[in-house]
Amino acid sequence: ESVDSSYKEAFRPQFHFSPQEKWMNDPNGMVYHEGIYHLFYQYYPEDIVWGPMHWGHAISTDLVHWNHKPIALFPDEHGYIFSGSAVVDTNNTSGFGTADNAPLVAVFTYHDMEGEKAGRNNYQTQGIAYSLDNGDTWTKYEGNPVIGNEGLKDFRDPKVFWDDQSNQWIMSLVAGDHLQLWGSSNLKVWSKLSEFGRNQGAHGGVWECPDLFKVKVEDSDEEKWVLLISMNPGAPNGGSGTQYFVGDFDGKRFTTDQKGTRWLDWGTDNYAGVTYSNAPDDKPIFIGWMSNWAYARETPTEMWRSAMTVPRTLYLEKIADEYTLFNYPIKALETLRTEPLKKEVELEVGANENIELTNLSQAEVKFTTSGRDFILKLKNSNGEETVLTMDSGQQLFLLDRIASGKTDFNERFANTMQQIPIENLPGGEYEVRILIDWSSVEVFIDKGQYVMTAQIFPTEHYTTVEVQNTSKSTLRLKEVMVSPLKG
Ligand code: FRU
Repeated sequence: ESVDSSYKEAFRPQFHFSPQEKWMNDPNGMVYHEGIYHLFYQYYPEDIVWGPMHWGHAISTDLVHWNHKPIALFPDEHGYIFSGSAVVDTNNTSGFGTADNAPLVAVFTYHDMEGEKAGRNNYQTQGIAYSLDNGDTWTKYEGNPVIGNEGLKDFRDPKVFWDDQSNQWIMSLVAGDHLQLWGSSNLKVWSKLSEFGRNQGAHGGVWECPDLFKVKVEDSDEEKWVLLISMNPGAPNGGSGTQYFVGDFDGKRFTTDQKGTRWLDWGTDNYAGVTYSNAPDDKPIFIGWMSNWAYARETPTEMWRSAMTVPRTLYLEKIADEYTLFNYPIKALETLRTEPLKKEVELEVGANENIELTNLSQAEVKFTTSGRDFILKLKNSNGEETVLTMDSGQQLFLLDRIASGKTDFNERFANTMQQIPIENLPGGEYEVRILIDWSSVEVFIDKGQYVMTAQIFPTEHYTTVEVQNTSKSTLRLKEVMVSPLKG
């Protein structure tokens, strides 16, 4: 294959996954098998806008460095290959493999474009494919589709796991405004078990990309089930976003007594994220698509379009009597730090300080503080800046990208100030950690309790972090670390 991508093109992410060329959206089929983390993704190999969907493919042993693989799944007579998941069929329940070679089974949505054009409502169905060589080659099941459609316009994004309590495969699937759970003993024959969500959570848009998984509550023996639901539009800062529910699953039904809507990430650019299947890590690992349908097709890159978030560890904490889902960069990303600058920052009322680096567009900034009123500006010599504000008066964290760089490709990109209502910050010190790549910033407050992910397109690398004390007392940032990151 001769793809002429240098990975040095303008805006090219250096430590986030992006395809060598052309259009990418959702992460798909995230599964670990025999030492390899697979990442498949919604891919259109002919253009840098969305089109007939394939599954692109990449592999990694550490979730930090990726190798590109040939396209795994191509559209066929049943339609485009939309989002879905993959599992290791350890006991060969599907019969696709053998007792000593467990098949990988991919479960995805077929989108029949002809059906859609003809005005039929049943154009999304579910199909499966298997691989006997750890993901290198795939065979579609001749009995596809395995779940037909009885007239649901939106019916997609199957995420499958093996459930020990009911001794069967469970599939979560979304149908416009609700979740459906289906069960199967062999991944081929499915029956519907239950529905959830018509009257729960946010409904400003279509539900997409569900994920149901068990998580241990920190500092306790309790286990809860978390349901992720992506939704477009209707996210708190506009366009696409991901909400979650914490509740229980009895092998058939998901239930919750959660009140109100909860968001995994308050930024504009973390969508359609789900967790790894079969991973050896002790907590779920999440990757999202770092874009937003409001402007995804117009971002100012030419060779490729869009990237994934860094992989993040998910964990649950009980705060003010409510289960809160944290997401925080996986530990392995710390291996990218090089020659970190370390210092303490102490600023009198009204004072500010500049911290300089040769290239801040591929870097990490981290500190702890008890301060609740400050501004951090990431700046370059072109006068561009991304402004991060902690404001105790309004109880908000804000991200302003109005002057961050190129923004004129779509008016919805820059016209809102992104914000997080900060209601449950711990009383004393807390951590602020920021990962900056050439075209993104990811902010993790209090180890991932509050997270904001946003694309930015500075026309030159940022080189300065300006810290301003906006409080009425001395501001201390402790153990400040600013580190360039390896690509
Ligand atoms: C989410 C989504 C999915 C769908 C896929 C199509 O971004 O709309 O619901 O399967 O993208 O590419």
